[in-house]
Amino acid sequence: MQRESRIGGLTVLTVLLCVATWHIAFAFIDGPLENGNFEQAPKSSNMKGTVVLKPHAIPKWEISGFVEYIKAGQKQGDMLLVVPEGYAAVRLGNEASIKQRLNVTKGMYYSLTFSAARTCAQEEILNVSVAPDSGVLPIQTVYSSNGWDSYAWAFRAIYSVVEILLHNPGVEEDPACGPLIDSIAIRALYPPKATNQNLVKNGDFEEGAYIFPNTSWGVLIPPNIEDDNSPLPAWMVESLKAVKYIDSDHFSVPHGKRAIELVGGKESAIAQVVRTIVGKTYRLTFAVGDASNFCKGSMIVEAFAGGRDTVKVPYESKGTGGYKLAGLRFVAVSIRTRIMFLSTYYHMRSDDLASLCGPVVDDVKLLSVRNPKRLV
Ligand SMILES: *[C@@H]1O[C@H](CO)[C@@H](O)[C@H](O)[C@H]1NC(C)=O
Ligand SMILES: *[C@@H]1O[C@H](CO)[C@@H](O)[C@H](O)[C@H]1NC(C)=O
Ligand SMILES: *[C@@H]1O[C@H](CO)[C@@H](O)[C@H](O)[C@H]1NC(C)=O
Repeated sequence: MQRESRIGGLTVLTVLLCVATWHIAFAFIDGPLENGNFEQAPKSSNMKGTVVLKPHAIPKWEISGFVEYIKAGQKQGDMLLVVPEGYAAVRLGNEASIKQRLNVTKGMYYSLTFSAARTCAQEEILNVSVAPDSGVLPIQTVYSSNGWDSYAWAFRAIYSVVEILLHNPGVEEDPACGPLIDSIAIRALYPPKATNQNLVKNGDFEEGAYIFPNTSWGVLIPPNIEDDNSPLPAWMVESLKAVKYIDSDHFSVPHGKRAIELVGGKESAIAQVVRTIVGKTYRLTFAVGDASNFCKGSMIVEAFAGGRDTVKVPYESKGTGGYKLAGLRFVAVSIRTRIMFLSTYYHMRSDDLASLCGPVVDDVKLLSVRNPKRLV
C-alpha cells in the first residue's frame, strides 16, 4: 500500500513536470529500458548475417565486440533459439558488451532485471556493471526448462546518469559462444526498515526486483548477494546457488504479492542479520508453502536463528499451492542474530522433470516475547 501511494505520488509529479516542461528529462520509472527487449532492429546495412557491425547499430544501445542480433526461430546447429519476449535478442560473444545510459535519481537504489540463456556448453558468466559497482553472475545452472532465466542485480546510483553495462568476459574457441540476452528492465528500490511490528526488514519480500509481467519463471536472485546492495532489500543470498523471486500473478504466494522459492536445496540460503537484545526471548514466524508450479513431494524448510536454534518444517506439496505457518522461539545470545532459511532437499518440477524448484518462504516476522514464561 505504502509503495503504491508513493508511486502514485511520483506519477502525478512526473505528469505535472512533463506538462510544465516537456523537454526536460526525468529520472527513470520502473519498467523496461529503451529498446530493452531489442525489438527495434539494426538496419540490415549494419549487419553481416547475424553479426552487428557498428557500435550504435542497435537503437538506444552501444555495443562493442562480437555481438549478434538473434531472431526467434533462428537455428544454431540443430538447436532452435527461443526468445522470451517478442522476436529478438542479442548474443554477447567473446568479450562483447552492450551498454545504455540512463537518467536516475542520485543516491537511490535500483534493481536491474534481465533474461539470459546459455547457448554453448561452457560455463558462461556475465559481468553486470554500473560504475563503480559490478557483479559477475554465473549463467551456469539453468533453472527453467526453456533455457531462459531472469536475473536480478542491484546498485546504488552515485551519479544522476548511469551507464548500464553487460559484458561477457569469457574467451571461448568459438567466438559466437556466449549468453543470449533479452528484456532488460529496472526498478527503483525503497529499502524497508524494521518496525515495532517486525524486527525483520522486508519480511514479506514485497520490496524487490522488477518481475516481467510476461515471463512465468520468476527472477533469480544470484548467489553471494550482500545485504547493502541486494535486489531483495535487507536480505542476503548465501552460498552457491540462486533463490527465486516469485509473484502472485504467476505463482501461489502465501502472503502479499511476492515471496521466495528456495530452488537450490542446501546450496542456497537467504539470510538477514537482525538486532536483538541478549537474554531476551524472541519468536520467529513464517509461512512455508509451494508455488503451485508442479513442484510436488515432501519438502522441509530449515530455519535458523543465531548459531544454536533451528527448526525443520515439513511440508507436503501437491504442487497446487497452499502453505502453513511455522515458528521458532529462541533466546538471543548476541546483539546481532542471523536469521536464515534453506531447503533440505532438491526438487524438480513434475511437469518437465528439468526445472529446479522448491518450497516457498514468505511472511517472515520476528518479535520479542513479552512474558516468555506465560506462553507455551
Ligand atoms: C537524460 O537527461 C539529459 C538532460 O538532463 C537529457 O538530455 C537526456 O536525453 C536524458 N536521457 C534519457 C535517456 O532520458
Ligand atoms: C567486470 O566489469 C567491471 C567494470 O567494467 C570491471 O572493473 C571488472 O574487472 C570486471 N570483472 C570481470 C571478472 O571481468
Ligand atoms: C505481453 O504480452 C502481450 C501479449 O503477447 C503483449 O501484447 C504485451 O505487449 C506484452 N507486454 C510486455 C511488457 O512485453
